[in-house]
Amino acid sequence: MTELDLAALREEYARSGLTESDLAPDPIAMFRRWFDEAVAAGLHEPNAMVVATADPGARPAARFVLLKGLSDNGFVFFTNTRSRKGEELTANPACALLFPWHPLERQVRVDGTAAPLSADDVAAYFASRPRGSQLGAWASHQSREVAGREELTAAYDEAAATYPEPTPVPVPEEWGGYVVRPDAVEFWQGRPGRMHDRLVYRRTDAGWTTVRLAP
Ligand SMILES: Cc1cc2nc3c(=O)[nH]c(=O)nc-3n(C[C@H](O)[C@H](O)[C@H](O)COP(=O)(O)O)c2cc1C
Repeated sequence: MTELDLAALREEYARSGLTESDLAPDPIAMFRRWFDEAVAAGLHEPNAMVVATADPGARPAARFVLLKGLSDNGFVFFTNTRSRKGEELTANPACALLFPWHPLERQVRVDGTAAPLSADDVAAYFASRPRGSQLGAWASHQSREVAGREELTAAYDEAAATYPEPTPVPVPEEWGGYVVRPDAVEFWQGRPGRMHDRLVYRRTDAGWTTVRLAP
């Protein structure tokens, strides 16, 4: 077996620092600033984020989704509400998000609570998706076992036959989205000697407070 010498794979983080005086008044404004910098830096899919959920036995699961909206209410993504993540969020809306912007030596971590989006918000976003993605949403009962690729292809073809162009493709009943209302948002900036900056916004009754954590 080939040995992977992972111990030698290490980077010194020295791009920049994050000080208390850099912080915007609230984490959403701060996130916007870092998101814009991630876009300006040309990061591949800077809106890709990891969503971590937990099942009723507190066993965690994580997967990527795409951030599709940001508002004062929080972070928006779309998915199948009967998928594994959807079922887990229904039973336990506590979740965590992670933006892995390591080319910038940054990560943003969000602890929050997911709430389903309104049917209007879901319909408006679904209508903006490419037709192929809309048909795919009909064909895929996300996270369920399938006999093989052919079963999925047949379901896709059936959806395409049911909704021939220019018939609009309606929103599948199981398709939806969530807004994650943040309780805490951490902005992490890598620094030399593993002396990283970690500044965390925490929601309180009086508004947002910020603290620094040891790296
Ligand atoms: C970069 C990237 C973006 C993705 N975006 C989404 C998304 O926005 N919505 C979604 O349902 N799945 C998305 N997926 C697929 C999910 O990672 C996952 O496979 C799927 O949602 C099923 O997850 P679950 O079984 O844990 O519910 C994305 C995958 C990648 C790699």
